[in-house]
Amino acid sequence: MPELTTPQSDYVEHCSGCHGMQGNSAPAEIPVLRDRVGYFMCTREGRDYLIRLPNVAYSAIGDNQQLADMMNFVVFGLGGNSAPKGAKPFTASEVARLRTRALATQSLIAIRADVVSKLGTACAVPDSINFFYDGQQQAAR
Ligand code: HEC
Repeated sequence: MPELTTPQSDYVEHCSGCHGMQGNSAPAEIPVLRDRVGYFMCTREGRDYLIRLPNVAYSAIGDNQQLADMMNFVVFGLGGNSAPKGAKPFTASEVARLRTRALATQSLIAIRADVVSKLGTACAVPDSINFFYDGQQQAAR
């Protein structure tokens, strides 16, 4: 077992149960992060969405720098090359501000759809981002 960095072990402890060790969530109801999550960095709103997600904003990781480091691992590590060129990493103060504006769990699907619909005008993103994982559209038919 290679030694994990703090952001990696934070991810394993707090997120991998749902999203998978490598960001490849097993159940269909949970979005795949691997090679995709960086697309959200294409818009201000998408970037904010990543931190305002209840599981992120209300994370047990209390320290904002530590949460920023973990989300930078999620976006630029698990997300592979999906973040647009020049995307800036999250900072502790940005994370602190966004955590006070956490999204409500009930409206997440609609909010995600709205955020995703605007990504395509800002960046070239694959249609599969409309779904939680590649191939979901086909699977649903
Ligand atoms: C209990 C299961 C669960 C846990 C734990 C969890 N998530 Fe999620 N996550 C979800 C679900 C379900 C969604 C979809 C919500 C939605 O519709 O926007 C989601 C959405 C996301 C998204 C948006 C991806 C997209 O395509 O919309 C990101 C990024 C994310 N989670 C990261 C994390 C991180 C980082 C952690 C750890 C702090 C975490 N999640 C913990 C279930 C979970």
